[in-house]
Amino acid sequence: MSTFGPRNVSDSITTMTEYVLPTHANALGNVFGGQILAWIDLCAAICAQRHAGRLAVTAEFDDVSFEAPIQVGQVVLLRARVTAAFRTSVEILVDVEGEDAPSGKRWRCAHAFVTFVAMQEVDGTLKPAPVPSLVCETEEDRALAAEANDRRTQRLARRKRRDAQRSLG
Ligand SMILES: CC(C)(COP(=O)(O)OP(=O)(O)OC[C@H]1O[C@@H](n2cnc3c(N)ncnc32)[C@H](O)[C@@H]1OP(=O)(O)O)[C@@H](O)C(=O)NCCC(=O)NCCS
Repeated sequence: MSTFGPRNVSDSITTMTEYVLPTHANALGNVFGGQILAWIDLCAAICAQRHAGRLAVTAEFDDVSFEAPIQVGQVVLLRARVTAAFRTSVEILVDVEGEDAPSGKRWRCAHAFVTFVAMQEVDGTLKPAPVPSLVCETEEDRALAAEANDRRTQRLARRKRRDAQRSLG
């Protein structure tokens, strides 16, 4: 059991705002996908650690697709929320939007489900550690949590297949 009590979804919601500079851009002047992934990972890590009350590491990124570009001089808005808490892992949904600050126009750029595992030191080694259970507060929270078990089943099946292929090769 976790040493921490249940936590509300709203307790760990994490937002980040980034300004796209030339150093973030590809040859077309749009932000690199890899840069977006790095920001998603950071935003989700903060959210996971707020929920877990511990250090947490990235275990898996589900499929990510980039729906619309964000250009140099525009703004990237990220919002992370816990959608499910399991034994030692949490699933985090990160939504990414672009913003043209002068006009206030916003558009959907990407979203990703990321799994983090909470860690604690045991005899000098980091080991997975229990996470608090999640209290859903809204209908949207409950819908996301209800679908999370299916995503987890698929994720763990992929992990099993990868492990099996590795042991063959
Ligand atoms: C993630 C990690 C801690 C899992 O360690 P492990 O010894 O395989 O641990 P376990 O098999 O006991 O699993 C611990 C939890 O991780 C989850 N997990 C492990 N691999 C996973 C994966 N690929 N996808 C989703 N969840 C995963 C398990 O389901 C379990 O969750 P639960 O307790 O909520 O059911 C370990 O693989 C690791 O340290 N990876 C590197 C993490 C890292 O450095 N990330 C930074 C980017 S490289």
